[in-house]
Amino acid sequence: MKIIRVADYETLSSKTADLIAAQVLVKPNCILGLATGSTPIGTYEKLIEWHEKKGLDFSEVTSINLDEYVGLDSNDKNSYRFFMNYHLFEHINIVRSNTYVPNGMTKDWEKECETYDHRILQLGGIDLQLLGIGNNGHIGFNEPGETFVKNTHLVELGESTIQANSRFFETLEEVPKQAITMGIGAIMQAKKVLLIANGKEKEEIVEKAFHGPITPQVPASILQLHPDVTVICSF
Ligand code: PGA
Repeated sequence: MKIIRVADYETLSSKTADLIAAQVLVKPNCILGLATGSTPIGTYEKLIEWHEKKGLDFSEVTSINLDEYVGLDSNDKNSYRFFMNYHLFEHINIVRSNTYVPNGMTKDWEKECETYDHRILQLGGIDLQLLGIGNNGHIGFNEPGETFVKNTHLVELGESTIQANSRFFETLEEVPKQAITMGIGAIMQAKKVLLIANGKEKEEIVEKAFHGPITPQVPASILQLHPDVTVICSF
């Protein structure tokens, strides 16, 4: 595992974008596992610059996102499909039908979860998985619990996640209570993992996740067992 501490968010964003750009350059038809949240926004801005100024070509790339809220459709500004379109896909030449986000509007959760895992398998797995980390140690929406959950699944969001994410909504009540998330299995099977953490408030959880015991109470701690993890942090 490599932990890189950088001076500020700007540097975190450009370093992370450079590593993703390198993946696309080396393997133009790569499978990128992508993340939402505040932290990757700067990375996506830098990737758009890579595309616009240096001609980075996303035409053969496939992306597969970590998670989606239950009950928000793609036109809802808080849905993760909307986020991805708005912050990245609309600005690069990725083929929209090659971008996958779980369908939070499905009535058949089990089927949606199964299909998502099947798709990852069919794609041949994820080449590079980008992750943020929640204040409670979640990755994707794999919340602290009794066990690590391997497959894509429906999750009840924890109180601290609902609180943290309420900053994007008008009221706390509007924050969805459930989400569909990729499981720990697909994340652990990604060839490379890139985790980014920004701000003082993330320092303690990053310390716990990467220097503490491996426990489902801190889902990111499982990454200690992954053979190729880079953590980039600014705090
Ligand atoms: P953040 O979220 O980037 O908005 O801090 C990270 C996460 O919850 O995974």
